[in-house]
Amino acid sequence: MRRLPPVLIEDGCSRELLSLIRTILAACKEISFRVGQGALSGVLGSTLDENIQGETQKKLDVLSNQLLKDILLESGYVKAIASEEEDYTVAGNPDAEYIVAFDPLDGSSNTDINSLVGTIFSIMRAPKDSDPADERIFMQPGHQQVAAGYVLYGPCTTLALTIGKGTRIFTLDKTHGSFMLTQEFAKIPEDTKEFAINASNQRHWQPAMQNYVNDLLAGDTGPRGKNFNMRWIAAMVGDVHRVLCRGGLFTYPADTKDPNKPFKLRLLYEANPMALLVEQAGGMAHTGDARILDIDPQEIHQRVSVILGSKNEVEACLAYHK
Ligand code: F6P
Repeated sequence: MRRLPPVLIEDGCSRELLSLIRTILAACKEISFRVGQGALSGVLGSTLDENIQGETQKKLDVLSNQLLKDILLESGYVKAIASEEEDYTVAGNPDAEYIVAFDPLDGSSNTDINSLVGTIFSIMRAPKDSDPADERIFMQPGHQQVAAGYVLYGPCTTLALTIGKGTRIFTLDKTHGSFMLTQEFAKIPEDTKEFAINASNQRHWQPAMQNYVNDLLAGDTGPRGKNFNMRWIAAMVGDVHRVLCRGGLFTYPADTKDPNKPFKLRLLYEANPMALLVEQAGGMAHTGDARILDIDPQEIHQRVSVILGSKNEVEACLAYHK
């Protein structure tokens, strides 16, 4: 079984990018350990703070963010970082080539119930001669990402990674701390009978999504002519991992629950990296209006609607949006 560094070097990954990825993974191994300790680590539960988006921060959100932020800024490999848990971007080494956007602990409400959580990251090139303190350096469409990945803290710790040459899956061997290649190239089946959506929001969705889901639920007696199964982990990282492993459609569509917040998922920390991983595995990732990887971000905490997964099913869903 092959370890991560030689695999990426064979793919033409530069030494600098490899070192940056390994730096992120070093923090993820520490997060994996803390998550795995559960109540023993004394970090379950919430803090008294909210992040800039008004969400309660879990103690593990804060800890994971601090671990990633410290290790990245100390490494000298990043010009700046943007984190879901930071109000603003943070400047790093002005001479570094890369910038990193990350969600330190996606699905963190799952920590208290011993369910799936994960770290999602997106690596882009910093524009030449740019100011590390200028957050506009992150305003790049997702197709410009040089690497994207997530580490899923589940029964085992799994890494899904792409540097634009397919999506590979690695498993952390906790006996010696190395990520081992356990799936050469993930391939999302084009067809599926499985979908993931928070159905409790159904009455707040737009008509296109209402109609699409109604037709899925109608099963083999409805217009789709087949029965569908539904899954919802409440951690995008877990739901996308299932899609990478066996296909499916995952969506968090627009809703009218809070008129000031029509979308839930973040473009830079969630939608973009997941869209690259999914497209590199043969799937599709769309908002309903546009390919996610073509969106020009307007601000670092921007949110979008997300429809991703098995190609033919995403296309079927998009047909309702036309
Ligand atoms: O970032 C947000 C997130 O936790 C995603 O990982 C997940 O898909 C979604 O929110 C869960 O949303 P809900 O609370 O509506 O189930």
